[in-house]
Amino acid sequence: MESIESAKIVEEGAALETRWGDGAALRFHAIWLRDNALDPETRSPENGQRLVTLNEIPPDTRVLETAVAEGALSVTFAPDRKTVRFPADWLRRNAYDGMSAPEPGWTAAGIETWDGDLKDLPQGRFDRVSEEPAALRDWLALVRRYGFAKLTDGPAESGALLEVAALFGYVRETNYGKWFEVRAEVNPTNLAYTGRGLQAHTDNPYRDPVPTLQILYCLENSAAGGDSLVVDGFRAAQRLRDEDPDAFGLLARHCARFEYAGASGVHLAARRPMIELAPDGELLAVRFNNRSAAPITDVPYAEMAAFYRGYRRLAEIVDDPAMAVGFKLEPGECFIVDNTRVLHARKGYAGSGSRWLQGCYADKDGLLSTLRVLEGELGVRAG
Ligand code: FE2
Repeated sequence: MESIESAKIVEEGAALETRWGDGAALRFHAIWLRDNALDPETRSPENGQRLVTLNEIPPDTRVLETAVAEGALSVTFAPDRKTVRFPADWLRRNAYDGMSAPEPGWTAAGIETWDGDLKDLPQGRFDRVSEEPAALRDWLALVRRYGFAKLTDGPAESGALLEVAALFGYVRETNYGKWFEVRAEVNPTNLAYTGRGLQAHTDNPYRDPVPTLQILYCLENSAAGGDSLVVDGFRAAQRLRDEDPDAFGLLARHCARFEYAGASGVHLAARRPMIELAPDGELLAVRFNNRSAAPITDVPYAEMAAFYRGYRRLAEIVDDPAMAVGFKLEPGECFIVDNTRVLHARKGYAGSGSRWLQGCYADKDGLLSTLRVLEGELGVRAG
């Protein structure tokens, strides 16, 4: 951790500038520092939540005095003459001076995009992640980094997928139930419940919010075919951006529509872009599902032809075999996908033998929460 060396008041107290052992000069605004004060009158010592509102902090808050001592920054604010101490590592971790957003379509730190050349399939063992917190941490970290991971050596028992969700959080129940059976049916309510091959897709884009995780758990898979494929939607979006920035912009700027009314009593609909960006261009989510795409009515006439060219190009990238990682699940194996990022597909299957998977949804915020807690207790895995 870099050490803080000195601090001086700048902009007549509206900010201060810190100097660091590695030569960095980082400015912090007085109002920002006061709002983020770590003292027990500003932050609850019990739960870390903020006790004051911004409107309780004077708008003319300035830095009156500042000093560096014992690896921390001390700041006295005007007009209330309150003195607060900021540890150096906290300041460095939360510094914002000099940070600039890269080009649109960037991904958060710790996310690694991939294509069919991905060397090692991210995976863990059911028995180990169930019993060893470090193994669970490592498996969840793979999900965060790659947006999917397999789990092997589990029981080939109906309902075992609920134990996978319980490792890190809670099942999200939907109209499909707490979980759903993925196998060929007569009169299916969803094309997933047939032997058809399915183009790579994200699930349930007609839902708002979409389920952010899906678990698909294999109980039988002796039919010919039926392999699972995954495609990194973030990599696909970035490839579209690199090939054709205008097409990328069109898909990010305009909403598509998605709809499902395939069973009685259900009519779900959502209006969201296929490529969702944060205001500063961070890739947040990809929604791609030809089966539930509704008529697109939110693109101006003058841009619709170009929008469709971009949509087609994205679909070609998604279908490019070089983008896909494939595997065939054995009974007792499952995989989890970040449904806001990684698309999944299935090859068609037919003939003798059977294919029976169970699927359920869960929430990524809970998975990431469990992962952060484990990392806090055990440390972040090196490498
Ligand atoms: Fe699906």
